[in-house]
Amino acid sequence: MTELLRNPEKLAKARTELEEVVGKNEHFEAAVAIVKETFRLHPAAPFLVPHKADTDVEIDSFVVPKNAQILVNVWATGRDSNVWLDPGSFMQERFSDSENDFRGRDFELIPFGAGRGICPGLPLAYRVCILWSILHSFNWRLENGMKRKDVDMTEKFGLTLQKAIPLRAIPTV
Ligand code: HEM
Repeated sequence: MTELLRNPEKLAKARTELEEVVGKNEHFEAAVAIVKETFRLHPAAPFLVPHKADTDVEIDSFVVPKNAQILVNVWATGRDSNVWLDPGSFMQERFSDSENDFRGRDFELIPFGAGRGICPGLPLAYRVCILWSILHSFNWRLENGMKRKDVDMTEKFGLTLQKAIPLRAIPTV
């Protein structure tokens, strides 16, 4: 929500796309792209959950020793310029015609983890996020007098990622 209020042209684009296709199956696509882009920049679990190596494992000639605790930095992957064009910008259109998904198949984007430990709540969380994105994203504005550039995007890292300064927004309908 914060990203869309800071990027009104992206909000307008998504709204136009949604309005154009309401009534068709595609009306989810804009919302899906927004949710993916949000998870890319702001993964709810920035290091997934701690994993542990059962045995020595060699990956690209790098040895992960048995019993090592593994933190997967998906926050950094989401902002890696070797992977993403202009990674710091919120651009949902990067997912518009993209096969890239967050169900654990595409390692560029694994906000729910991957493999056997993947989040079992993914189907529910995914639907709730899409629904929220469709229903609530569009009729809000930043609180009085606040400029887009003044929105504080500082993040608070923990097991989960939070906004350090909560968004303050005003509904317009
Ligand atoms: C935006 C919503 C959510 C995100 C981003 C998320 C993310 C994650 C991540 C990253 C993991 C660890 C996966 C790994 O390390 O490989 C995880 C595990 C888990 N999640 Fe979620 N989750 C979400 C919602 C939910 C919901 C709604 C439920 C339950 C209804 C749920 C239940 C679980 C459980 C039980 C595990 C532990 C699985 C295991 O270790 O075997 N999550 N989740």
